[in-house]
Amino acid sequence: MASYNLLLLPGDGIGPEVMAGVETVLAALRETGIARFETETDLVGGAAIDRHGKPLADETLERAKAADAILLGAVGGPKWNGVAYDIRPEAGLLRLRKDLALFANLRPAICYPALADASALKRELVEGLDIMIVRELTGGVYFGEPKEITVQADGSKRAVDTQVYTTGEIERIAHVAFDLARKRSGRVASAEKNNVMKSGVLWKEVVTQVHAEHYADVALEHVLADNCAMQLVRRPKQFDVLVTDNLFGDVLSDVAAMLTGSLGMLPSASLGAAGDGGMRRALYEPVHGSAPDIAGADKANPIAMIGSLAMCLRYSFGLGEAADLLDGAITDTLAAGTRTADIAADGAGAVGTKAMAEAIAAAV
Ligand code: NAI
Ligand code: MG
Repeated sequence: MASYNLLLLPGDGIGPEVMAGVETVLAALRETGIARFETETDLVGGAAIDRHGKPLADETLERAKAADAILLGAVGGPKWNGVAYDIRPEAGLLRLRKDLALFANLRPAICYPALADASALKRELVEGLDIMIVRELTGGVYFGEPKEITVQADGSKRAVDTQVYTTGEIERIAHVAFDLARKRSGRVASAEKNNVMKSGVLWKEVVTQVHAEHYADVALEHVLADNCAMQLVRRPKQFDVLVTDNLFGDVLSDVAAMLTGSLGMLPSASLGAAGDGGMRRALYEPVHGSAPDIAGADKANPIAMIGSLAMCLRYSFGLGEAADLLDGAITDTLAAGTRTADIAADGAGAVGTKAMAEAIAAAV
């Protein structure tokens, strides 16, 4: 039986509570005999600051590099608001992303049939929605140089951010998107603004070339990013895999998220280059934060975290059947009416974090 080793980094606030949900579900998955899952648990964020004086200890980073995949809960909270900027809880997460070179951020926007009425859009527009946004995460305008504010001769200021993309950066994110599309509906839309940006011209050129050379079986469509925002709200189900740069991906993935309901439902993956064992380095985490307002109260929805485990099974371990089983268990649990407070119609009859995780494990 194949064996996988997972590093669990629960973090802060509701992080440990939703991560406990992952452990509940992993126990059920082990019973199915699909694979062997070994876990190690370590500290990140505020919890690591309390123990080591910094948000990611060197030995934790080494464990992360050695693991087959990393699952992270959430970091941060009011307790650490006063710590120095470069050792704040978020710095631990940023260091993980940077040192593991996690360049591809995958954010699915899935609308579960049982929750279609929780969407910002009408039920018929979102029912059955299943989009995968692939956002380039380590390049573009957030990192390009120069990046500065300077004072001009007349005393007024001038701010510069620089969008930089190289052929290699666009190629590798394009490969991620096309490979994903092959496992899904076989369609990719690529969003840029080649009408006004040179980086958009190169983006379109490189994506077109990668497609022609390697993925003739996948359908490719180019869409201008502003039109894409409009289409996501007008007719979201036209999209399957949507690949875009760091800045447009930041905005478009937030738009797509709001089509599906609660923050507590949204998983994510960040994929890197191949690690020592040949397996792609990857970190899986819910989109939400540490939710200090409900931490410790058994109120958090664990589905974003458990859905992140499903993505890990699919994209890191190639266990598509196990991932389908887990996604199906989430769908069935919701269809049976089990709700945490964030997705319950009026908060009435809601179950807690533990009970939701146990219901999903039972469905597995
Ligand atoms: P948040 O995502 O933690 O919470 C926003 C709102 O959504 C809150 O009302 C919260 O109760 C609710 N919520 C979030 N996750 C939920 C879940 N699973 N189930 C039910 N309700 C849920 O964002 P906020 O409040 O802006 O940040 C809180 C802390 O988290 C801050 O310290 C922030 O820096 C950190 N943060 C960490 C992130 C990470 O670790 N990746 C991402 C975003 C924020
Ligand atoms: Mg954002």
